[in-house]
Amino acid sequence: MAYQHAKAYQDLENCELIACADIKPENAQAFADHCQLPNTYLSHMEMLKKEDLDIVSVCVWPKLHAQMVFDCVASGVRAIHCEKPMADNWEDARLMVEKCQVAGIQLTFNHQRRFGLPFVKAKELLKNEEIGSLQRLEAACGDIFDYGTHYIDMFSFYNDDLPAKWVIGQIDYRKENLVFGAVVENQAIGYWEYENGVFGLIATGVGAKGVGAHNRLIGTDGMIEVGATDGSHLRIMRKNSSAWEVIDTNGENLHGPNYISRAIANLVESLESGVMPELSGKRALQATEIIFACYESSRRHARIDLPLTIDDHPLVSMIENGNLILESD
Ligand SMILES: NC(=O)c1ccc[n+]([C@@H]2O[C@H](COP(=O)([O-])OP(=O)(O)OC[C@H]3O[C@@H](n4cnc5c(N)ncnc54)[C@H](O)[C@@H]3O)[C@@H](O)[C@H]2O)c1
Repeated sequence: MAYQHAKAYQDLENCELIACADIKPENAQAFADHCQLPNTYLSHMEMLKKEDLDIVSVCVWPKLHAQMVFDCVASGVRAIHCEKPMADNWEDARLMVEKCQVAGIQLTFNHQRRFGLPFVKAKELLKNEEIGSLQRLEAACGDIFDYGTHYIDMFSFYNDDLPAKWVIGQIDYRKENLVFGAVVENQAIGYWEYENGVFGLIATGVGAKGVGAHNRLIGTDGMIEVGATDGSHLRIMRKNSSAWEVIDTNGENLHGPNYISRAIANLVESLESGVMPELSGKRALQATEIIFACYESSRRHARIDLPLTIDDHPLVSMIENGNLILESD
């Protein structure tokens, strides 16, 4: 991901890439060579101490995100762009946003699909009332924590970044499952209600097939799908019609191209103008609260009314406490 962030900064006239830090010397050197960087470090602390940086991109695995963001805050940078998922526990996710807010530092998370045409056009169709008023958002993907963070953030995008009221969920964890070093469930179902009465539903693992489309927006007068099972990136079915209409997305799919470049251009522009960036930490926190609430609902066997009052990662705690029974090979 660091390579994609780097390209985005280098494409901007008002940004200059100065330095990188990677704990693995061969990775640090390869990156520095690729980006023609003058300064290479094996420790982000040393880099933060020696360099006078405006923006830092944090592109390490999730368990390292929070501490690196805290270290950047202490070093006095102006902006931090961190990879998703925010953090591997709810307390750290909250603290990242809180510390940056107190220090006046712009914090963003790389939910770059907010800049992708299939998603942007889906929202336009919704706002133009092409499917009437929004009733329910559905998503299907591998897991809630790593991939689901993108789609739960897209739900916020479609639904004007309104917070959720409550969340109910169940997870299955019968086999060890790590993504970027972070535990994720084998299968889950999560269901919640936003403040405006719109419902959110996510199915992961083998159950994802039942939802089918990556994102589905269900309205009173029709339906929109992003990443549909027929291979189309965006399609709509209107009231009184049984046929799907495929919408042109100019060659853009679920992943790109150029979404990360647009996201980084936006956060740089926001840093100059003071306008809230599209990928603000506050917005990411709303999606992250739903994610941890799904796991908490499974732990408590109950609906979770928000705000979420835990600090830990319920799935990690359940594994550590021996509350989940793993299948033996
Ligand atoms: N936004 C997206 O669509 C998207 C897609 C893929 C991955 N990601 C996220 O990006 C992040 C990074 O993923 P990746 O695929 O680039 O991982 P990667 O393994 O390719 O790169 C991580 C780098 O971090 C370095 N590193 C490890 N510990 C370090 C430390 N203490 N200090 C400095 N460097 C250290 C490693 O040596 C490695 O070079 C993850 O959080 C992942 O979830 C986001």
